[in-house]
Amino acid sequence: MQNLKGKKVVVIGGTSGIGLAVVNAAAQMGAIVFAAGRSQKNIDKARTSCSYSVEFRTADTHDVDSLVKLFEEVGEIDHLVSAATGAERTIAPFMQQSAEQFSAAFEKFWGYTHVVRNGEPYVKENGSITLISGTPARKYKSGSSSLSCTGGAVEAFVKALAIEIAPKRINAVSPGLIDTAMWDGFGDNKQQQLADMTANIPLGRAGLPEEVANGVIFAMTTNYATGTTIDVEGGMLIS
Ligand SMILES: NC(=O)c1ccc[n+]([C@@H]2O[C@H](COP(=O)([O-])OP(=O)(O)OC[C@H]3O[C@@H](n4cnc5c(N)ncnc54)[C@H](OP(=O)(O)O)[C@@H]3O)[C@@H](O)[C@H]2O)c1
Repeated sequence: MQNLKGKKVVVIGGTSGIGLAVVNAAAQMGAIVFAAGRSQKNIDKARTSCSYSVEFRTADTHDVDSLVKLFEEVGEIDHLVSAATGAERTIAPFMQQSAEQFSAAFEKFWGYTHVVRNGEPYVKENGSITLISGTPARKYKSGSSSLSCTGGAVEAFVKALAIEIAPKRINAVSPGLIDTAMWDGFGDNKQQQLADMTANIPLGRAGLPEEVANGVIFAMTTNYATGTTIDVEGGMLIS
């Protein structure tokens, strides 16, 4: 297992939720961490909540110039992570979605491809890239086709890329339902909704971003893991 002490870690989408938990975990392990997101508001909130020394930057997975600027500034990278949401998803049966609604979900995937295309040249030969997919990639439910197809694309992408970029490594981490700002749209009802949505999975609760960050740290530091997906989902896949 690699030690993260002194390693340079870049987390796109590192200002909230799973990405921010990865930022904290890597910083706690002694890494030099750059965390990026689009909004100054999230950067300010993350900076306030963060008890480690972290470099926060503005970058958007859909704005290639902002990614190029970030990677030029950072230089050589040991571990690159993209945990950006980067898309508007419509939860509805495929036949009730417009073509625009369905394809909008893929903006997350296109964003990840921009991160990899522009960031991979900076990743060291013994370094890694980790992308976040999601349980719907392999757990199918009515209304979730756009999530399933986007997550499936992310997981297929890491397998295809693992062959092309070796000895650099690339993996996916696939979270189940995790209590993050992604669900803030539920408003005051958020905790009840998350509890209801996870009541029937083996662990019977939503996950914590820190629990998914463990999976990302495993992907970063396990030198023999590439082209694989690490599931952190409370047993959702077998429920
Ligand atoms: N939470 C879950 O239940 C769950 C389940 C399965 C999969 N996932 C996946 O896990 C990943 C992280 O989600 P999360 O739950 O941690 O969400 P979150 O708490 O909302 O965090 C999303 C992060 O991504 C940043 N971001 C969004 N769009 C971006 C873009 N275009 N470019 C750069 N940064 C961007 C956000 O900051 P700004 O908005 O300021 O840019 C924020 O830092 C996502 O890929 C999500 O699809 C989450």
